Amino acid sequence: MERYAHITGWGMAVPERVLTNEELARMVDTNDGWIVTRTGIRERRIAGHKDTTATLALEAAQAALEVADISPDKIDLIIVATSTPDHIFPATACLVQDALGATNAGAFDLSAACSGFIYALTVGSQAIRSGAMQNVLVIGSETMSRITNWKDRSTCILFGDGAGAFVLQGSDLPGGVLTCLMRSDGSGGDSLTIPAGGSRMPTSYDTVREKLHFIQMNGKEVYRFATKVMVSAAREVVEDAGLTMEEIDLVVPHQANRRIVESAARSLNLPEDKFMVNVDRYGNTSAASIPIAVCEAVAEGRVHPNDHLLLVGFGAGLTWGATLVKWGVTVKPEISAWHHLGRQARYGLAKIRSALRRGVRQIEGVLYGSQSPENGNGTEHENGAEPSKNNHPPNNNHN
Ligand code: ACO
Repeated sequence: MERYAHITGWGMAVPERVLTNEELARMVDTNDGWIVTRTGIRERRIAGHKDTTATLALEAAQAALEVADISPDKIDLIIVATSTPDHIFPATACLVQDALGATNAGAFDLSAACSGFIYALTVGSQAIRSGAMQNVLVIGSETMSRITNWKDRSTCILFGDGAGAFVLQGSDLPGGVLTCLMRSDGSGGDSLTIPAGGSRMPTSYDTVREKLHFIQMNGKEVYRFATKVMVSAAREVVEDAGLTMEEIDLVVPHQANRRIVESAARSLNLPEDKFMVNVDRYGNTSAASIPIAVCEAVAEGRVHPNDHLLLVGFGAGLTWGATLVKWGVTVKPEISAWHHLGRQARYGLAKIRSALRRGVRQIEGVLYGSQSPENGNGTEHENGAEPSKNNHPPNNNHN
């Protein structure tokens, strides 16, 4: 029997701090009029010093699990789409897994910039549709403020922080994520990039001084690309689902720029009121923008059972993608002991479990010392070589 992946839970989280255009105008040479006319953005949220991509992701995930009424130990897989992970590794998804107490879940991060949530939704729903998994948590979370050059007026006006999450659950009932599309064109990679911090240009004093760890963007090129691919991707997933544009009840586009959305509406011949837009309040939250917009559309009563939702995004890579969703909560909520616990108690247990595991690891460390499990010969180097004292691999030929 065919399996379907339904969206049974959704949640969002944004930091408290609001940064308005007026405030930005005091930081760089810009003004509210320019920003609103060119982008539609009026304000954005900025992470506080205690907020990270993982903490925002966790809050959104907790809200989504509550809507789905499913306990974290039932989750099979957690995917966090992000370009601003807490660390290169461990994955932000693993930090979320630990804090949730999702003890049976695999967890990984997915990097596809602003298209990340569409990509994650595609991977998560296909894992369910294949029969391999039953419950998947898909999150888009970003702290763009941490990779923004606050002296560059061409980019710092655009971005904001936040997170959104969906719980996907398998069911035999038709509906949910029906069709998906993922595309890329790496030849356009340099039009939107963070040049340093990876293996090509590792972090150094010079990369920091030259501000190469911040977003660099060719705005005009990205704009042209976005208006083109939003339309082609939207048409393709709608056609694949055997539907027409007239049957789409709500389009939830990536929230980068209001003008890009207006242009897509014109090209698709759809009225603008069929588009969910909240870029005015959050700016571009990258991988988080689509799930945040869906959450707000639901809260505003703009999404009804059996509605056809078209989610479409684009971003660095270059990447783009779309999914066609038939909305409707058809999976029965399971009533578990978890259901009766308050949020604090639920995640308090996860904290205790995490602390216990860390404790056990420490005790094991004391008991077994630094013995390697394979050969038990301690920390000696197999070939007797001294560890490298510089930042290069021992056998490099770059002298
Ligand atoms: N305030 C005032 N003036 C400004 C500002 C600013 N913040 N920024 C640029 N300007 C000036 C420029 O210097 C230029 O002046 P000049 O004509 O004297 O040289 C003028 O305004 C026009 O600048 P443009 O860059 O041509 O402005 P444009 O109309 O293209 O708008 C924008 C710029 C808003 C960035 C637009 O190109 C855009 O939205 N592009 C898409 C960006 C996007 O979506 N990025 C996210 C991708 S998703 C991801 O993966 C992260």
